[in-house]
Amino acid sequence: MNAGPPASSGAEHAAYPVALQDEVEAYLADLEFATVPGMEGLDEAMRYSLLAGGKRVRPVLALATAEAVGRAPAEVMPLAAALELVHTYSLIHDDLPAMDDDELRRGRPTCHVAFGEGVAILAGDGLFAEALRLLLERQAADPADLLAAARELVAAAGVNGMVGGQFLDIAGDAPADGESLRRLHGLKTGRLIGASVECVLLLSGMSEAETAPYRRFARELGVLFQIVDDILDVTGDQHAIGKPSGSDQRHGKATYVSVFGLDRARELASESHAGARAALAEAGGRTAKLAQVADYILTRRR
Ligand code: IPE
Ligand code: IPE
Ligand code: MG
Ligand code: MG
Ligand code: MG
Repeated sequence: MNAGPPASSGAEHAAYPVALQDEVEAYLADLEFATVPGMEGLDEAMRYSLLAGGKRVRPVLALATAEAVGRAPAEVMPLAAALELVHTYSLIHDDLPAMDDDELRRGRPTCHVAFGEGVAILAGDGLFAEALRLLLERQAADPADLLAAARELVAAAGVNGMVGGQFLDIAGDAPADGESLRRLHGLKTGRLIGASVECVLLLSGMSEAETAPYRRFARELGVLFQIVDDILDVTGDQHAIGKPSGSDQRHGKATYVSVFGLDRARELASESHAGARAALAEAGGRTAKLAQVADYILTRRR
């Protein structure tokens, strides 16, 4: 089953639930943000980054989690889309000159290159706020469950999640040991990936005990995702990954490759993938698509 870490010679990446991805894509394309006059430039920048063809891993995970726990994926689409809006906001800000200073994203010039820094900052801010509006306006759920899911989403995006991880990433004191690196990756990427699973469990009113294996799966998957991202930054082809390769090294970032070397990073990715799959095996339910996403994350080339 393990087709090997990304960029191992000739190995195809694992299957991906493209039907779910297509549903996400269509839903995102139909979203409307600006309803007052004069916002065309802002709306355009937000849609430019959002509809540039990301892999949609976070919303696909949310939909696959719904299926795993016996719900129709379409029922959690507003939440799934909200996760992608938050993620896209994080990418726009991550690329800014003050952050990673990158000029290519999702195969296009980055938002600030296309629209200027001010508009890019606002496009990111706008996507974050619109994510919450979407969730609160459109997601059907018991109010207490919706509140719990919303709380998890903002917590995952916040200081003890993605933004905190991004802070550690740019703060300069690059962690040189595996434990700090895992913590960094767990925050900057893992929390939002984890929330993609966790928010659906909360929305479905499931108990902590029922969902513990799913949560372990989600945590491990988040770290795996960023290990592979670090590997692809070194081995990936810029056209395939749609963003500049070598960005981490140019900026002296602490990554799984810089700390462990490429071979060990690949081994750690495989171990992390095995951990995620083991947790999923304990979860029960219709987990085939979640398993597909885990395999895809290990073997992806973009
Ligand atoms: C890139 O995320 C940034 C990280 C958190 C590693 P993705 O690899 O999910 O990027 P898109 O959404 O497919 O463009
Ligand atoms: C970014 O990590 C994680 C985010 C929260 C956006 P990276 O800086 O490695 O992401 P890429 O490689 O630019 O997509
Ligand atoms: Mg970064
Ligand atoms: Mg970056
Ligand atoms: Mg990266």
